Amino acid sequence: MQIVILPTAEDVAEYGTQLFIRQLTEKPQSVLGLATGSTPLALYRLLISACQQQEVSFAKAKTFNLDEYLGLSADHPQSYRYFMQQHLFDAIDILPANTAVPDGCAADPVAACQQFEQQIADAGGIDLQLLGLGRNGHIGFNEPSSGLRSRTRIKTLTPATIADNARFFAPGEYQPHLSITMGIGTILDARKVLLLATGANKAGAVKAMIEGPLTASCPASALQLHQQAVVVLDEAAAAELA
Ligand code: F6R
Repeated sequence: MQIVILPTAEDVAEYGTQLFIRQLTEKPQSVLGLATGSTPLALYRLLISACQQQEVSFAKAKTFNLDEYLGLSADHPQSYRYFMQQHLFDAIDILPANTAVPDGCAADPVAACQQFEQQIADAGGIDLQLLGLGRNGHIGFNEPSSGLRSRTRIKTLTPATIADNARFFAPGEYQPHLSITMGIGTILDARKVLLLATGANKAGAVKAMIEGPLTASCPASALQLHQQAVVVLDEAAAAELA
């Protein structure tokens, strides 16, 4: 695991953006794994700007998102498909058919999980997987106690994650407690992994992820097993490291 500590969250976004641009420059047909949440927003804004200035193109790329709420349709404002359209896909030159987000409304969600794994395999596997980090150490929606070799499946969200994500939902609005998420095994299969974490509220999870032990209690600690994992932190998120 390579650890990069930079002064600010803006520096983290800039560093991550440059890794994406390098990936797409070296391999325009890259398969990219993407994340939602607050952390990647600045990186997506920088990628949009780079694409509009023709410094990078997604025209040959394919993307797979980590997760989706079970029960939310693509046009639901809190769905992760909607998030990706708003914050990245609609503003870059990617072909809509080349973007995949787990289907939160699949008639057979278990079959949809297997199909998602097959789609990734058919695309040749993920070249670069972007990750955020939950305060409880989750990656994707792999909550504590997730199997370290797990594949895409339905996961129940913990009360802590439901509370953390309540900020995206209006008071009284239905908030799903179930998700479809790539597994930890799926994430570890990516050829490169880039995890971004910013802010003091991630410092405890960052310490557990990096300094161990390797444990299902901190799913992100599984990245210790990955040969090409880069963790980019701002100083606030790195504050508890030894
Ligand atoms: C999002 C995802 C989650 C988030 C994590 C951090 O697709 O899979 O693991 O990356 O919950 O969220 P933020 O960035 O909002 O702190």
